[in-house]
Amino acid sequence: MQFKFSPTWLAGLAAVSLLVWACGPTETEPTSMRALEASDFGSVDGQTVALFTLTNDSGAKVGIIEYGGIVVSLEVPDRDGNVGDVVLGYDTLDAYVADTPYFGAITGRYANRIAKGRFEIDGTAYELPVNNEPNSLHGGIKGFDKVIWKGTPTASGDGVEMVYVSADGEEGYPGELSSKVTYTWTDDNELQIDYEATTDKPTVINLTNHSYFNLKDGGASPILDHEMMINAGMYTPVDATSIPTGEIASLDGTPLDFRTATAIGARIGDDHEQIGFGAGYDHNYVLNRDDDALSLAATVYDPHSGRAMDVLTEEPGVQFYSGNFLDGHHVGKGGVAYQHRSGLCLETQHYPDSPNQPDFPSTVLRPDETYSTSTVYRFYAR
Ligand code: GLA
Repeated sequence: MQFKFSPTWLAGLAAVSLLVWACGPTETEPTSMRALEASDFGSVDGQTVALFTLTNDSGAKVGIIEYGGIVVSLEVPDRDGNVGDVVLGYDTLDAYVADTPYFGAITGRYANRIAKGRFEIDGTAYELPVNNEPNSLHGGIKGFDKVIWKGTPTASGDGVEMVYVSADGEEGYPGELSSKVTYTWTDDNELQIDYEATTDKPTVINLTNHSYFNLKDGGASPILDHEMMINAGMYTPVDATSIPTGEIASLDGTPLDFRTATAIGARIGDDHEQIGFGAGYDHNYVLNRDDDALSLAATVYDPHSGRAMDVLTEEPGVQFYSGNFLDGHHVGKGGVAYQHRSGLCLETQHYPDSPNQPDFPSTVLRPDETYSTSTVYRFYAR
């Protein structure tokens, strides 16, 4: 568009100049710390991996790398304004490549379990690697958490877009799948994750983020004092291999009911078959919702630091995993050995094993459709 000089425009400019002159800038005016930096986080298979650091106007930060689209750090203030990293992870790329329980990663093509690594679409059977006996977990041996995504800053400058094209047949899944995951870090300390994908053949998809949170100290101590609220009255009970039985059961009277905020540790040792199967909490909650709009799935609060996190999602479920398989052998950031239950995950998702459960919401994506879903992790202190 061409800018035309007109008397009205000149009068407008004069008025604006006057306003600018009258209002400042003054020395006390707060300056935004908003920034987006890209740096080198190392290389794997001869490919360099960039680290994007997003800083919002108050100085709170998120670090995301191209390997696995991993959120490597998330620094937010406690109730006294002390900034601390609230996610578990490593200092180096080599450590992520060597051994990670999906710290911070995008999990896919199918997050969570598919029974015996088998499913059918339109009568055609597909077989996936069994990497979590006897099931397929989190997209297989080399899932989306272990591939290199191509990162680009978003046009608005407050986010990063990660793109990955998964070949037809990769890890046994049909169809070439083009995925885009956009991370946006807002001035309200919200990490918004928008997932999008298209396929050239019918396939199944279930993408999530596998961050382990510890709002107190980033993983130096257990999360058992964290108070959890999950906005769900129902869940999908599992068998001994963590595959849903197909039932959508009430949480009434169970130690898995978190409709009222309760310390995670309060009932985790209860004698309940489902807690036994999960070795703690490792269950999919069927979220209470009226429609598929972004709505509150869970709130976690750490009474020590005052930090809180709301999880909002468009997904029908959330897997609450209380870090039951952490056992101290992952030595993470700053040399901290992550002990049993030192981090918790809230993985927004479709229900586990949906490809084999006709009564669960469908996870089939067809060539004429676009997969599109959003989740927000919002941080604050009280
Ligand atoms: C998910 C699963 C857990 C476990 C972790 C990774 O949350 O549900 O059982 O496999 O991932 O260790």
